Amino acid sequence: MEPIFVAKPMLPAARDVHAMIDRIWQSGFVTNEGPLHNELEERLKAFLNVPAAKLYCNGMTAMLAGLQVFGFEPGAEIITTPLTFAATPHAIALCGFKPVFADVSPDTLTLDPEAVARAVTPKTAAVYGVHVYGTVCDNDGLSAVCRKHGLKLLYDAAHAFGVTVNDVPVGALGDATSFSLHATKLYNTIEGGILTAPDPEMAHLFRLMRNFGIVDEATISRVGYNGKMSELHAAVGLLNLDIYEEERTFRRGLRAIYDSIVAEIEGIRTQVKQPGVVTSEQYYLLVIDEKVHGRSREDIYNALKERGIHTRRYFWPVCSDIDPYRGQHIHSTHNRPVLETVKSQLLCLPLHRGVQDAHINAIAEELQRR
Ligand SMILES: Cc1ncc(COP(=O)(O)O)c(C=O)c1O
Repeated sequence: MEPIFVAKPMLPAARDVHAMIDRIWQSGFVTNEGPLHNELEERLKAFLNVPAAKLYCNGMTAMLAGLQVFGFEPGAEIITTPLTFAATPHAIALCGFKPVFADVSPDTLTLDPEAVARAVTPKTAAVYGVHVYGTVCDNDGLSAVCRKHGLKLLYDAAHAFGVTVNDVPVGALGDATSFSLHATKLYNTIEGGILTAPDPEMAHLFRLMRNFGIVDEATISRVGYNGKMSELHAAVGLLNLDIYEEERTFRRGLRAIYDSIVAEIEGIRTQVKQPGVVTSEQYYLLVIDEKVHGRSREDIYNALKERGIHTRRYFWPVCSDIDPYRGQHIHSTHNRPVLETVKSQLLCLPLHRGVQDAHINAIAEELQRR
């Protein structure tokens, strides 16, 4: 049995990439919003069905731009979840703001609006929700808190490309949403990101941020950086857009197989199924309750690793346990935050085309073992 990892990049055929490279070399346009970049931006804007969408060189840079365009005061507090990749609080901190952690809801594992309400202070400028594992945040609940306190609502949708909620695209929720198009993401441009908004006027600002604030040859209107995507990455993005749905359908099938295994096992559950939501198929999450199952997340992680199946304990360590934010309070409606219990229960299984029957059988055996 071949060893497998939690992610395997979806890549176009090398000959198709070579043909694209020939086109790029002939045109002489290799970056700076070239023709392939602009074509991809238009296609993704249409695909994501959002009024504003601007490409970036990676998800992190898109996050920085999303946080910077609203003019929050230096030192402003931004409420976010500790159950996310370090990029989320890092983006907040790098902009000169303070990440403030609020607890997650036990079922969805996304930001709990009631916990968020408890974290609001006069210094709070925004709430930064994460559609973690592709599970959509409680947008109604978070919007209500933000409306009440006059806060912006931003989303990190690094795991939620292609998600819709009752036909509403996830990139149109809140005030701005960033996506990662990194190689570990189902839809990827190898390195890349995109920033979206429901207000078409935001596109202009998003564009300024990624290109040094340049308006035209004679005008630089604000502080910006180089967040542009190159033609090579855009070429991969265009080719990947053509094979994306096929890959997502494959992963949906694999999810159904994993679901049928997990359904039979007491003490292990997966992500909640959200009615009306078209899923991203980015992750297959296990939540392992050792008290009920008998084996811990670590037991299962190590046993699978020995058999060459490399799962990931996303997101371990959680952001409130890493050096820059260690010991920071987690605002919660519970005496002991939900996060403190779930953080040692989470395991992501490989969800990609490399997974074969032998892997699935080995995973089933290890999950069933008591
Ligand atoms: C939740 C989350 N936010 C942000 C990012 C950062 O995206 P990128 O790697 O494209 O900069 C990631 C990357 O994996 C992520 O998982």
